[in-house]
Amino acid sequence: MDKKKIAGEKATEYVKDGMILGLGTGSTAYHMVNKIGEMVKAGMDLKGVPTSKATEEQAKALGIPLLSINEVDHIDIDIDGVDEIDPAFNATKGGGGALFREKIVADLADMVIWICDDSKLVDSLGAFPLPIEILQYGYTQTLKKMADYGWNPVLRERDGKVFVTDNGNYIADLHLEKPVDIQDVKEKLATIVGVLETGQFLNFCKYLIVGHDDGVEVIENAKSIKD
Ligand code: 5RP
Repeated sequence: MDKKKIAGEKATEYVKDGMILGLGTGSTAYHMVNKIGEMVKAGMDLKGVPTSKATEEQAKALGIPLLSINEVDHIDIDIDGVDEIDPAFNATKGGGGALFREKIVADLADMVIWICDDSKLVDSLGAFPLPIEILQYGYTQTLKKMADYGWNPVLRERDGKVFVTDNGNYIADLHLEKPVDIQDVKEKLATIVGVLETGQFLNFCKYLIVGHDDGVEVIENAKSIKD
């Protein structure tokens, strides 16, 4: 059983005709977007707001009608993956580098559904390096401030080159010492000028859908910030 596929497809059961959807990024969201493509082909009236250029290309190829974030006044449901998530529904995202658009789309959505396989469930955040989108200008100063907090920042590279986001920025991956005080890190990040957005998605989701070897689990969050 493909754990990412069953989680991604299960989330589409919440989708209703006429909805505007946030389309997430990554290998789990990929399956969800494929399923949305099938639903559109079958005649459903759905529109998507993609969270990355990669998802935009996938959705276009599937014939999913797309809207830009600037054209919508709301998003009904945002469905996206996570890199890790704790029992209080605090998630780290941005492993694929799309965290900034992902957060703008999630923030606008009436309801957020996170999808993942069970390897993403953690007791406390910090196993996965925390991605931070930073401005190219002055990035060495931004990294130094992060290093001064003891966060062990690493400028993300891909294929031997500095990774550049869809927004033209860099990513610093923070290797935080455990135990991580996520509120303290959040407050300190807000004071660093070159920080544009963070991969901390604290208590966003209404539903967490998890693929296991023996099936799919839906966990409801009774206290989402969206409630
Ligand atoms: C991209 C993300 C992804 O949602 C996250 O990295 C999970 O990806 P995958 O489903 O491939 O494990 O935040 O920026």
